[in-house]
Amino acid sequence: MINTPFNYTGSKYKLLDQLIPLFDYSKPLFIEPFCGSFVVGTNVADKYQRILINDVISDLIGIHKKLINNPDDIISEVEKLATCKDSQEKYNQLRNSYNESKTPEKLWALMLSCTNNMMRFNKSFDFNQSWGKRGWTEATQKKVDDFVNHISKYKEKIYFSSVNFYDVPMNPNGMYYVDPPYTNTEAGYNAYWSKQLEIKLYNYLIILILIKPKLI
Ligand SMILES: C[S@@+](CC[C@H](N)C(=O)[O-])C[C@H]1O[C@@H](n2cnc3c(N)ncnc32)[C@H](O)[C@@H]1O
Repeated sequence: MINTPFNYTGSKYKLLDQLIPLFDYSKPLFIEPFCGSFVVGTNVADKYQRILINDVISDLIGIHKKLINNPDDIISEVEKLATCKDSQEKYNQLRNSYNESKTPEKLWALMLSCTNNMMRFNKSFDFNQSWGKRGWTEATQKKVDDFVNHISKYKEKIYFSSVNFYDVPMNPNGMYYVDPPYTNTEAGYNAYWSKQLEIKLYNYLIILILIKPKLI
């Protein structure tokens, strides 16, 4: 199994052995309305004609898109930005800079530099995780290299979107892997999840089941 180079809350990396045998490989499309780290799609990219990954955090999708399609540019930019291991002031400047003018590069640098590498936002999508005294390491470089070597073989068939899950198109030819936030956990992305969205998800899944894709 290939991991993606993010320490992502809720990543299903450790469950891949159990999940992957459950998927329907007769469908041509693999669709992840809540892709997070994209570790699930990464490990079935060879099995489908097209992969659609979506997440409401647009800069997270921006990271995936740039890392898959144009890795050298984002890697060199993030290496320069993720240099606040020894300076909380520098970290605060990076975080302020992201909150004033958001880019995928700044978000990834913050993910590498913050406490436990766990991104955390407030309801306005401002990044509010504390300084983690960490940054880009040799281990990061190795994970990035392994991921890029693997995923570059499939880049033509990966499509990206950043919308609310209920705007992800319903397609009867899709194998949908649906992994939403769980309200009883402490994940950072729960800040913008709500009971109302759970009801919308329930309704979305009911319609999805009626149009008969495969759903897990
Ligand atoms: C449990 S995590 C998915 C983890 C993913 N399967 C993995 O292996 O890394 C849930 C994801 O849903 C995203 N999310 C939260 N609200 C959303 C919404 N309204 N629409 C789409 N994505 C949303 C979060 O940003 C988070 O990345």
